[in-house]
Amino acid sequence: MIRLNLSVLFSAMVAHVKPLNCRSVSTCLNGKTYFHSSSTAMSYSRIDAYNEWYSKFVREGVSEPRESIETIISHVLAKGLPPPHHDHDLSKKEQEHLESLCECRMARMPLQYIIGEWQFRRLNLKLYPPVFIPRPETETLVEIILERLSKKSDTINVLEIGCGSGAISLALAQENSKVVCTAIDQCKLACQVARKNSSALKLSDRVNILWAKLTEEGEIIDCCSKYKLVDGLPKKIDIVVSNPPYIPRPDVFNLQPEILLYEDLRAIDGGKDGLEVVLPLIKFASTLLKPCTTSDDGGKLFIEVDPIHPALLRNWLCGEENSKLQLLLKYVHLDLFGKERFVEIVKV
Ligand SMILES: C[S@@+](CC[C@H](N)C(=O)[O-])C[C@H]1O[C@@H](n2cnc3c(N)ncnc32)[C@H](O)[C@@H]1O
Repeated sequence: MIRLNLSVLFSAMVAHVKPLNCRSVSTCLNGKTYFHSSSTAMSYSRIDAYNEWYSKFVREGVSEPRESIETIISHVLAKGLPPPHHDHDLSKKEQEHLESLCECRMARMPLQYIIGEWQFRRLNLKLYPPVFIPRPETETLVEIILERLSKKSDTINVLEIGCGSGAISLALAQENSKVVCTAIDQCKLACQVARKNSSALKLSDRVNILWAKLTEEGEIIDCCSKYKLVDGLPKKIDIVVSNPPYIPRPDVFNLQPEILLYEDLRAIDGGKDGLEVVLPLIKFASTLLKPCTTSDDGGKLFIEVDPIHPALLRNWLCGEENSKLQLLLKYVHLDLFGKERFVEIVKV
């Protein structure tokens, strides 16, 4: 479990803070002066480490300074933080490890890449740059789909477009044993990470990851053979899900340095209006989703989008040309912050 809320504990530790130990002062990059833990220091405790790096992060404008140092200390010590009265000195190896990870954070590397893992719902996922870091709002998307699936008794065929580290498909398969997923991504490294996660979670028999790309024309191409992917995809699908690149390009450049410097921008940049992948995705889904019958609902498409998109998509689907897709935007769901973030489209 990574997202430990250790703030209270740390506040208590800081209240018991000892005077700083012997330190050397050195001048670092940009002409700024930093206090470095000296290799000749008599002792260097967790509280010292916390105080030193917390102040540096604040001074340098690193976002979430408290969570950053807390997570790094917990990771380096491979155990939670000690109670305030049990602080003890870090070994030289621990000090060096901690310092190198903190320097990465100073260079704005996201915490998830620094420690190489992150939690998504009940999953502990391995993460490597630049594979997209799953976001908390996407946990809500999984929740919405699981609710829809709760009444189904047969096998549920799910297709995910753009699986990244595998977060959505793996969470669906882990939380509903009837789910069988095919997950594709155009990024080879993302597929490797997703397979690694799937195997570590013992879900490889129900989550099949394919290196494949959704084209502008709304087809899926196998990235190895460059041919249209025919085998490997179920013929009729109950659920298509995607958290595609959807940020409109003008907004991409206003994102935090953590994202711009380290994450794969092809996972984020949705083109001029943010719909460059979303529209082909809808066209493709319309060909594979189960049609509605008298006894059963039609297949459903769930997409995470920018809050400007639901209204645009509703109009687009009603257009004369697109009404032949036989899709209806039935619900718009809100994210944790009350923004219109997920569309639920049904095959009619
Ligand atoms: C926003 S990330 C979402 C990753 C993951 N589903 C999640 O929520 O954490 C979008 C993913 O879609 C992949 N992707 C982007 N365009 C694609 C395309 N045309 N075909 C297949 N995958 C694509 C990217 O490589 C990236 O992994």
